[in-house]
Amino acid sequence: MSKKRILSGVQSSGTPTLGNYLGAFKNWVALQDAGEYESVYCVVDLHAITVRRDPAQLRRQTYEMYALLLAIGLDPKRNVLFVQSHVPAHAELAWLLGCYTMFGELSRMTQFKDKSARHADNINAGLFTYPVLMAADILLYQADLVPVGDDQKQHVELTRDVALRFNGLHPGVFTLPAPYIPPVGARIMSLQEPTRKMDKSDPNPAAHILLTDTADVIRKKFKKAVTDSDSQVRYDPEAKPGVSNLMTIYALATGKKFPEIEKDFEGMGYGAFKPAVGDAVAALLAPVGDTFARLMDDTGYLDTVMRDGRDRAAALAEQTMEKVRQAIGFVAL
Ligand code: TYM
Repeated sequence: MSKKRILSGVQSSGTPTLGNYLGAFKNWVALQDAGEYESVYCVVDLHAITVRRDPAQLRRQTYEMYALLLAIGLDPKRNVLFVQSHVPAHAELAWLLGCYTMFGELSRMTQFKDKSARHADNINAGLFTYPVLMAADILLYQADLVPVGDDQKQHVELTRDVALRFNGLHPGVFTLPAPYIPPVGARIMSLQEPTRKMDKSDPNPAAHILLTDTADVIRKKFKKAVTDSDSQVRYDPEAKPGVSNLMTIYALATGKKFPEIEKDFEGMGYGAFKPAVGDAVAALLAPVGDTFARLMDDTGYLDTVMRDGRDRAAALAEQTMEKVRQAIGFVAL
């Protein structure tokens, strides 16, 4: 039997954060190493233009995001790694699926509501139909599993509904995908406002850790992280969101469980805990930063790997597109 397939993506809209890493990328590498799936990962530059981008900056950020995927340990031979705009079938399928997606469904998407509030001067149709393009990304590759953070769960559920509707009319065309959300780390919070998600677009740099931050910067940001007025290291996301977020990060960086962390820091206070989190994250990210810098000096190599990823992705996508065009009733020549 052929292996089950994974698909996921990340926007090329700035340097990714520790939230992206712990909520998604870390699992992509773990799933690669488990070897049970065939994995397809894309840098979604078409998604990135729902917000205005400077062309030179978009180009650079697409290279950076691609280099980062390699730097975190994704092997371009064992996975299909490509850039979304290199495979035009994404845009083609998005149009088709748009005709199977309801206005009401898209109106309920919380990310649309958030983003249109933040970019009130540019609520374009792309922002609204963004989840249809995401459904196209997933269904194009007949993905079984979609490893994402908590904020993307609603989009994967919509994808499932669209696939069910399409299959109801044209049986057997799409595989039904399921989200794969990690039990710990699915929602890493801001270091400054721990009731909000850590987000690269946060204007306060102290609120997030970027994957390219130096060890020094990482340690400083954790020292400044917002906690609370008692000084107990205890996991309680309701009453102690700041400390609980730091514990989640520390747990994922060290492999320790919450009770063990509570015991290790018993009676020691945040003065000891915050620097320990900073050290653990600095150690976790040090190899990523080094490899990233080396790769960004060799865009010739990145072009070669991107081209190979594009060819492999396009071949998979075309298999689905043939089925879809036939099912809908387009004339084949
Ligand atoms: P994006 O680029 O915003 O984020 C990439 C991945 O990182 C996860 N993530 C987080 N996880 C935990 N805590 C956080 N603070 C945090 N912030 C981000 C996201 O959940 C995501 O898994 N629409 C998607 C990209 C996309 C996609 C797809 C994903 C396009 N097509 C198809 C899966 C399948 C997005 O904007 O992710």
